[in-house]
Amino acid sequence: MRLRYVDADPRTLDTPLLAVGVTEGADPSSGLLADLDRALGGAVQRTFASGDMKGKSADETVLYGGEGGPARVVLLGLGKSAKVDAEAVRRMAGRAVRTAERLRLDAVAIALDPIDGVAREAVAQAAAEGAGLAAWRFMELKAEDEDDPTVTVRAADLVGNADPDGYSSGALTGAAIARGANLARTLQSRPGNVATPTHLADEAVRMAGSVGLDATVFDEERMLEEGMHALLSVSRGSEEEARFIILEHRGGADGDAPLVLVGKGLTFDAGGISLKPASGMEEMKYDMSGGAAVIGAMQAIAELGLKINVVGLVPSSENLPDGRATKPGDVIGSLAGKSIEVINTDAEGRLILADALTWGSRLNPAAMVDCATLTGSVVIALGHHAAAVLGNDDDLVGELRAAGEASGERCWQLPLWDEYRKQLDSPTADLQNVGGRPGGSITAAAFLKEFVGEAKWAHLDIAGTAYTDSERPGMAKGPTGLGVRLFSEFVLARARG
Ligand code: BES
Ligand code: MN
Ligand code: ZN
Repeated sequence: MRLRYVDADPRTLDTPLLAVGVTEGADPSSGLLADLDRALGGAVQRTFASGDMKGKSADETVLYGGEGGPARVVLLGLGKSAKVDAEAVRRMAGRAVRTAERLRLDAVAIALDPIDGVAREAVAQAAAEGAGLAAWRFMELKAEDEDDPTVTVRAADLVGNADPDGYSSGALTGAAIARGANLARTLQSRPGNVATPTHLADEAVRMAGSVGLDATVFDEERMLEEGMHALLSVSRGSEEEARFIILEHRGGADGDAPLVLVGKGLTFDAGGISLKPASGMEEMKYDMSGGAAVIGAMQAIAELGLKINVVGLVPSSENLPDGRATKPGDVIGSLAGKSIEVINTDAEGRLILADALTWGSRLNPAAMVDCATLTGSVVIALGHHAAAVLGNDDDLVGELRAAGEASGERCWQLPLWDEYRKQLDSPTADLQNVGGRPGGSITAAAFLKEFVGEAKWAHLDIAGTAYTDSERPGMAKGPTGLGVRLFSEFVLARARG
C-alpha cells in the first residue's frame, strides 16, 4: 500500500473517499465538519440532525459529494474526546480502509485531526500504521474468487492542513512500521511446510539485502562448532535443519553498545516426544512469531535509518518427535556451559532462546529484549490483550511498558523474584527446563534469566497476543505481527535519546 502525507485542504481533495473522525458531541458547525458541510451542501448538518451520527465509536455514515472535492465522505465515530488517543486514530484509519474495501474503492484519504496531548507526528504515525495494517491480507495460497474478487486498497493519503513536517515524518515512520508488521504477519501466516527454519533465514537475508542490513546465518555445523547445544537439542527430532539468524543495523557509532532483539523462531511446535494434543496443533505454525517480529522490526529500523546500533537474533528450529529426538530426562549442554535436564520436550522455546540470549549477552549490549510465544500460562494470566514483560532491570521494563502504550501493543509486568528459581532445581543437572504449573510464565522467564549473563534484559511472552481468532477494527483474524510496533517504538525512543 502506498502511504503518504498530503498537505491539502480536505474540501478540495480529489479522492473517491475521505474518512473523517467524529468525537462524541462534536459541533458540525465548526472546523473541518463545517467546511465539509458547505462542500457537501449541508449533508453533514442533516446527518447530525437525524441523530444517526453521535460520534459513538461504532457510528459510521457515508455521505456523497458533488462536483469537485471528495466523491464520498465517511464519518467515523471516535467515542468520547477525552478518550481519543493514538490507538483511536489507528482504529479509525483501519476502519477507513475497511469502508473503502466494502465500497470497492482502491484508494482512501484520511483526515488528520490534532489530539490534545498527542504530538502531530504520533497522530500521523498512528494513522499510517492503522491503514497499513488494515490493508494487509494473506492470499499467497488461495485462489481468487472470480465472482467476488477481493478489493485491495492500494493507497491511503493522510491529509492535513497544518504542521507538514511533523505529519509527514510521522507518516513515514508509521508506514515503515506497518510494512515491518505486515512482513512479520506474512511470515507468520506461512504454514510449517513453507516457513521452515531455512525459509525464515532466506527471507531474513533477502530482506536484509533490500534495506541494507548485514545478515549472517549459522547452519547446524556452525552451531555445533560454537557450542549451541540447547538449540541443537530441539532440532534433533527434525529433518529440517535449524538456523541461527543474525541481523545487524549499524546506525550508531562504531563500538557503541548495541540493542539486541531476540525472537523465538520455532517454525512448528508439535511438542517433540512430549507430544501436544492434536486439537489446535495447527496453530503451532505461529510459534515463530517472536522471530518474525524481530525480522519485521529490523526491517523498519533499517528503513527508518535510526541512528543506533541494533542486532536482531533469531534462533529457528522445528520441534518434532522422532527416533533421534531429545527425550524427557535427557541432559543437554548449552552455549553458556550450563547443563539442562529436559523434563518436558514441549518447553523447547526457552532452550533455543537460551543459546541466543547467551550469544546476545556476549555482544555486551546496552540492553537485550527477547520476544517469544513461550507459555500457554500467559494466556491464563493476561488473556489476549497484553503481552507479559519480565526482566532483570526495572528501568528497561518501564521503557517497554511505555513503548507498549505508545504503540498499541501493550505489555504488563509479572514479577521475577529469586524465589521462583527454586522450581527449576534439578537433581541431575544445573537446572531443569520446566518449573511445574504454578507461575508457568514466570518460571519460563526465570529459566531465560540464567542465560543472559550481565546484560540488562527483558522478556516479552506473546503467546496470547501473536495471533487472534477474533476480528478487531482494522486487524484481520490471524497473525498480528505483535512485537514489531513495540520493538520499533522502543528502539525509536532510545535513538531519540
Ligand atoms: N509454543 C508453546 C507455547 C504456546 C502455547 C504458544 C499456546 C502459543 C499458544 C511452548 O513451546 C510450550 O509448549 N509451552 C509449554 C510449556 C510447558 C511444557 C512447561 C506450555 O505452555 O504448555
Ligand atoms: Mn512447546
Ligand atoms: Zn513452542
